[in-house]
Formats: sequence, structure tokens, C-alpha cells
Amino acid sequence: MVPVIQIWNLAGIKFSVNKSNLVNCRPYSYQEKARMTNAVEIKNLCKDYDKLVGLNNITLNVQEGTIYGLIGPNGAGKTTLIKALVGSLKPTTGSVSVLGLNPLRDRWKLRKQIGYMPQTPALYDDLSAKKNILFFGSAQSNTGLEKKTNDILEFAELTNRANDLVRTFSGGMKKRVSLCCALVHQPKIVFLDEPTAAIDLHLKLQSWKLFRKLANDGVTLFISTHLMDEALLCDKVAILRNGKILIVDTPQKILERGKTTLTISEKGETKESIIDSTPDSLAKELQRFGLKENITCITLHPDTIESIVLTIISEKEKQEKK
Ligand SMILES: Nc1ncnc2c1ncn2[C@@H]1O[C@H](COP(=O)(O)OP(=O)(O)O)[C@@H](O)[C@H]1O
Ligand SMILES: [Mg+2]
Repeated sequence: MVPVIQIWNLAGIKFSVNKSNLVNCRPYSYQEKARMTNAVEIKNLCKDYDKLVGLNNITLNVQEGTIYGLIGPNGAGKTTLIKALVGSLKPTTGSVSVLGLNPLRDRWKLRKQIGYMPQTPALYDDLSAKKNILFFGSAQSNTGLEKKTNDILEFAELTNRANDLVRTFSGGMKKRVSLCCALVHQPKIVFLDEPTAAIDLHLKLQSWKLFRKLANDGVTLFISTHLMDEALLCDKVAILRNGKILIVDTPQKILERGKTTLTISEKGETKESIIDSTPDSLAKELQRFGLKENITCITLHPDTIESIVLTIISEKEKQEKK
């Protein structure tokens, strides 16, 4: 694996980090932001389809003002879970509470307080982008809607296409309009089902900046994705597979489950060791070498979140077979 970012280059000692270490650059840690109120509480939630199990005994809580990532491959149950949370699907058993309300029974009360971006945009093709956003926004709020709509169109870089019919848009542009529809009324909690799939890198980064800003302002974001790099940008993640939760933790703690390969070049000879992915383990290993002048290069290759998650999955599968 090629290290992508070089962070130190001191007196001939070069440290490089793989991009998965970028988690350390997140502006706020989950612990710093921990709040006591749960925006979402899910208990023993099950959803059986005719022949398939959609959700298998899901229990989790989402703290207010955090970004919660629901990570899993296709068919894991992400969309099913989000639909249960926004009240568009009746669970087989178990209970769900969103902002203290029952999404099915209190659907109308919840509507004004939540935003929902479905996996497949549900827009009116024969309305313009702006009219779609005004339409969805007016169903939930009326105050200052014109300005809110213009602002969100600008964020999504759609101002110059605002009056074009949505049917003339590409798939990625429709996703952006759909994201605007979910956010325009400034909801307290937003459910986003794969919001950045098919969106170009620049807007993906812009979207994550906006998500972080919203969370800092106290909005709760519940975001599904199958992209592991996005897991690193969440405060907490649940990894879902075959309708079951495999693990719930902070991205940092998940990364720490992996190993790091440390390579040190000394007098032209390369020595490799595998250490835990923690600063303590790194310090301990480096103490063996000291910072001698003849050490010319040090590189670190932490396991990627993908490989850590694959290891967790295979360990769980082995346990289940026993
Ligand atoms: N309406 C449905 N009828 C029958 N099975 C469904 C339905 N919706 C989803 N499923 C099944 O439930 C499982 C989870 O699907 P889904 O929630 O869409 O997963 P994800 O969003 O993670 O890709 C899959 O096996 C899928 O085939
Ligand atoms: Mg889905």
C-alpha cells in the first residue's frame, strides 16, 4: 500500500501515514461532543420480509448532535432500518423512538422535525430543482423558505440550474437536489440513505463539511453508506451485515483493532515489525532503535478500515459456526 500523506520529515527520519490515519484530523471527537440525550432509540428491532430477514434484533442509540454512520454492503439492511426510523415501514417486532416519538404513530408530528433523503431520489421530474425544494420545504416549514431554498441551492452548486426541470439532470445532480429537499427546512435530525453515492468527490467533501457543521449546531445525522472512508468521518458507526449489527464503536476504536506495519531503514537494511495501531505501541517500538543518524527512513502502514472490518466479519462468522 502506498502511503498518501507525509507528515514529518525531520533530520532524515521520515514518517508517512496511510489515509486511514486521517481520522486523527477530525475536528471534534465523539467524546468531546458526547451529550446525554438520545435522538434515536431502537430496541430489538426485527423486520421479516416474505422469505428474507431484513433486520435481525437491532438495538442501538444515537446521541443528539452526532453523526452516526450505518455501514454495510448491499443487502445489509441499511435502507430497511432507515425506513423504519422515518415511519415508512412497519417493523415485525421491536420498538423505535425518534426525538421521543413513535415514527408510525406520530408521523405527522415528526415530519416537521426530520429530514429524509431516500436512496433513490423521489423528485417531481417535471418540476424545476427549485420548485422541488420549495415543494418539500413547504410541507414542513414556511418561514423564510425562499432564502433557505436559495442558500441550499448555492451550497449544492445548483444555482445556475435552479430553474431547469429535474428530468434534464444527471443522476448525481438529482441526488444533490434530493439532499437539498432533506435539509431545506432545517430539521433536528436527518436520515440520509447513501447520500454521496454517485456524487463527485468535490461535492462529497463539501457534503461532509456541511454534515459536520450541522452536527456542531446540534443536528443529529444518521447516514448510511457502503464506503468505508466515510465511516471515518462519523462520530460513531454501526456495521451491519445480513440485517445484524456486527459492531458499534467510534471509528478511532475500530482502527485501533487493526495492526500497523512499521518499516525502518537502517544502514541500507530494512526491518519490519507489526505493532498495535496505538501511539503507545509506536513509541515503545521506536525506543528499541533510538533516533540514530543511520536510521534513514521510517514508514507506518496501518491496516485500512476495510481490512479491519473484513477481519471482524470473518471472526464473527467463525464464532457463529462454532
Ligand atoms: N420490499 C422488500 N421485499 C422483500 N425483501 C426486501 C424488501 N426490501 C428489502 N428486502 C431485502 O432485505 C434485505 C435488506 O435490504 P436493504 O435494506 O435494501 O439493504 P441495503 O440498503 O443495506 O442494501 C435484502 O436481502 C433485501 O433483498
Ligand atoms: Mg439501501
